[in-house]
Amino acid sequence: MTNPHEFGIAGLLGWPVAHSRSPVIHNHWLAQFGIPGRYVLFPVPPEKLEAAVRGLSALGLRGCNVTTPHKQAIFPMLDRVDDLARRIGAVNTVVVEKDGTLTGFNNDGNGFIQSLRDAKPDWRPDSGPILVLGAGGASRAVVASLAAQGATEIRVTNRTREKAQEIADAVGAAVGIVPWEQREDALDGIAMLANATSLGSAGKPPLEMPLDRLPRDAIVGDLIYVPPETPLLAAARARGNVTVNGLGLLLNQARPAFNAWFGVMPEITPALRAAIAATF
Ligand code: ATR
Repeated sequence: MTNPHEFGIAGLLGWPVAHSRSPVIHNHWLAQFGIPGRYVLFPVPPEKLEAAVRGLSALGLRGCNVTTPHKQAIFPMLDRVDDLARRIGAVNTVVVEKDGTLTGFNNDGNGFIQSLRDAKPDWRPDSGPILVLGAGGASRAVVASLAAQGATEIRVTNRTREKAQEIADAVGAAVGIVPWEQREDALDGIAMLANATSLGSAGKPPLEMPLDRLPRDAIVGDLIYVPPETPLLAAARARGNVTVNGLGLLLNQARPAFNAWFGVMPEITPALRAAIAATF
């Protein structure tokens, strides 16, 4: 940790970045704890990523978040990347260490898992089989983090089977692949269902997923947060399942990043949720 009285800067490297809610989250916590500092958006085009990352330490930044399209490209520019981020194949948080070297992490999957646990404290990754819909970057973060936290049966289904196979290859024996056409059968006996496709988000078609075979005590998560309740979550909630949208991931992935940059582990308070809600 640098001198706590120094103005601390962190930010988001992405292209584009304007839509991000991360400044609201981190600047809320900085104000709450009276820490002098600022979280800033840095629109960085791909061809300038390397120069931007090289400048982090020289400019005195505490670190940064990384978003599309830089989450993979940044790997060779970092001094070390933790095991989970390696298995996920993407970095979402960079910490500038005291000696100026750069460490990469990925908190997205753990953030999602924490938001599920907040909503249903008796659920754990090893509570029973899990069904994950989709096999893009978000799915891979969730699946790798679930396996790292003890999940032993994760059923992954995706329209393009090869991408589900890539996740199985990267994560290992806990992952089984279900053909997309058979996703409804895979609801049998699950303790958790997660939607990591873009279906159901604003402007996209809804996900076709009848829930008749979903156990009543299963928790249902959707990584989407615009709209705040997708048709999938509405249907699950109507039949009595506990549901969680993607805002919990966004909020929970930010906590360990803030702690690493500013030395305080922040909480997700009603005031923070209200500040985020006001941005919609
Ligand atoms: P992210 O980084 O958010 O995960 P992504 O990598 O573009 O975004 O992944 C989007 C996911 O939604 C993928 O699983 C994608 O399936 P494909 O791998 O087959 O493309 C899924 N998806 C998007 N549109 C879909 C559709 N119309 N039907 C089924 N799956 C769809």
